[in-house]
Amino acid sequence: MVYNFDEHIERRDPVSVKWAMYPDDVLPLWVADMDFRSPPEVIAALQQRAAHGVFGYHFDAPGLREVLVERYRTRHGLNVTGDQFVFTPGIVATLNLITRTFHHPGEGVLVQTPIYPPFLTAPKNGGKQLQTAEMAVTVEGQRLRYEIDFDRFEAAITPETRMFILCNPYNPVGRVYTRAELEKLAEICLRHNLLVIADEIHCDLLHPGAQHISYASLSPEVAAHTITLSAPSKTFNIPGLACSFAVIENPAVLRTFRDTAGAVGLHPNTFGYIGAEAAYRYGQPWLDELHAYLTINRDTLVQFVEERLPQIKVTVPEGTYLAWLDCRDLNLPESPYKYFLEHAKVAFSGGEAFGKAGEGFVRLNYGCTRATLLDALNRVHESLNQ
Ligand SMILES: Cc1ncc(COP(=O)(O)O)c(C=O)c1O
Repeated sequence: MVYNFDEHIERRDPVSVKWAMYPDDVLPLWVADMDFRSPPEVIAALQQRAAHGVFGYHFDAPGLREVLVERYRTRHGLNVTGDQFVFTPGIVATLNLITRTFHHPGEGVLVQTPIYPPFLTAPKNGGKQLQTAEMAVTVEGQRLRYEIDFDRFEAAITPETRMFILCNPYNPVGRVYTRAELEKLAEICLRHNLLVIADEIHCDLLHPGAQHISYASLSPEVAAHTITLSAPSKTFNIPGLACSFAVIENPAVLRTFRDTAGAVGLHPNTFGYIGAEAAYRYGQPWLDELHAYLTINRDTLVQFVEERLPQIKVTVPEGTYLAWLDCRDLNLPESPYKYFLEHAKVAFSGGEAFGKAGEGFVRLNYGCTRATLLDALNRVHESLNQ
């Protein structure tokens, strides 16, 4: 191992959302950033740019476009050109712009649940109707697996539905959809003429055996009905640099989105562009080791739950660094989020924020040192045995 993911890096400073939200005696395993230092090449590129000392407006990012065109051609099977990328300062902002920009007030936007909370708020923020299709879940021992209930999915589509926001890899349930699942989804979405917003921000965070298939790569017809969203922020742990992008092959959709983003001045800053390009260009050796570390964290978590927390059920994520824990059998007097915060001094993400299907669940971020993960799990165990 060249990179030391076991190193404890003190993050209890007032500007870290993850570490400053709760008192010092609480371990934060909630918001999706990791406790690891970014690839050294990213840090060096930022230092070099900072040393220049002049921070005027950043015109464009030709190097980042170049690296993304190559990456999407070789890894994701998308033959896109540099000008089909639109850079934005974050996916949440982008989702909100999309739901405001496309289609008409009152029309429907479909999401699957449980889901990353901004998927639930962006449609309403954009004056649209939120429509939900709950996932089906199977249980084997203490392991949960989420699958698409295609009948329920299609039944949730009404004549008003114009858009579907897909999350793949899927936060919070950790699924990485198979080609067969995506093809079936695409068949339904095309039949109903839906614009699909494919949030693929976690596409480079895969565990062994999982393969990411970019939704837009399924066919030219699918691509024409898709806006793909992604970012280097989760993969290389640079969310604070605020750089994301949309990939759009449909010329009319691209023009509308680019013009609107331009009109409201929605773009990353200089450091976002520089960090993103360095991460994609040079970050792979770091990422390879990160994958190995995260997989051991995932397996450590699942093993701990199976051996020591018999009333909790857990997903075995195929991608992301987020696990989803069903705590309903604990019959706690309050939500598991509140219980563990108060009694274990561990901050998870409360499942209720992910929609009704998340009540009684918590989401655990294992993008942390193994020592932190084990400390948190031991605290949970002790809190239940008090
Ligand atoms: C699926 C998904 N989309 C978007 C985001 C946030 O992206 P951004 O920080 O670029 O707004 C997250 C963060 O957890 C996420 O899991």
